Amino acid sequence: MGATAAHWIASKELADVVLIDIMEGVPQGKALDLLQAMPVEKRDCNVVGTNDYADTANSDIVIITAGIPRKPGMSRDDLLNTNFKIMQDVVGKVVKFSPNCIIIVVSNPLDAMAQAAYKLSGFNRNRVIGMAGVLDSARFRTFIAQELDVSVENVTAFVLGGHGDTMVPLSRYSTCAGIPITELIAPDKLKALEERTANGGAEIVKYLKTGSAFYAPSASAVEMVEAILKDKKKILPCAVYLEGEYGINGLYVGVPCKLGSNGLEKIIEIKLTADEQAALNKSAASVKELTAVIGV
Ligand code: 2OP
Repeated sequence: MGATAAHWIASKELADVVLIDIMEGVPQGKALDLLQAMPVEKRDCNVVGTNDYADTANSDIVIITAGIPRKPGMSRDDLLNTNFKIMQDVVGKVVKFSPNCIIIVVSNPLDAMAQAAYKLSGFNRNRVIGMAGVLDSARFRTFIAQELDVSVENVTAFVLGGHGDTMVPLSRYSTCAGIPITELIAPDKLKALEERTANGGAEIVKYLKTGSAFYAPSASAVEMVEAILKDKKKILPCAVYLEGEYGINGLYVGVPCKLGSNGLEKIIEIKLTADEQAALNKSAASVKELTAVIGV
């Protein structure tokens, strides 16, 4: 996942990249391989691999992908304790060497790990953002475009809530060329697409067996990186620390956010129906159960 994120970043010539891993040789080998693709791709990005956080010093953005992935039959929540231990180790070193960075968390269970990184880093909430909604809505957009047989470029979609089984795909705010998809797709079909979106990660784990998705998750993290580095003020669904927005307090949950050079620059509050708010509350409650276990 980290290596694939580096691949997207270099292919877009967004930044120089340092790949870091505990496995000796792997980040060095992958980085050198990617670096040697740069002349072919006509991109001037430096890519280095290391096992030493000192080499990551003064990074502008740190994408944390560290942690074990799930295996078939596991939920993201089953990774909680193992990945929290990894997060404790990683975040301390990230903060030590890059005290001014913006952290994008990708490790699962996403919302709880983002909250852990926020608490462990001591950063303001604008500098610790979880990647999930971009991925979940990309999955929803893929399925909507397939169903309507249109370009993926025509489709926008919104998914709120935690990055888990209780996520909330919002068909009412999803469109094809500006037309609400509720006008174009029958309710039962739409429900099936929403369910496939919520199970999108598990569908891939079932095929891969030994790991989870990495192309779409890393592309999604890199869309956030690009919005921040280019100060695009782009509105993307991200997991952020809510302080009363959407009636939720002191918890990481996915909501629409404006991303720019300061990281999270604004949380966009949209009106939800009673059913949608109830679904969001349920999703937040399941995140809260996890944060309570690890005490963050
Ligand atoms: C996914 O949904 C890995 O959580 C990630 O595929």
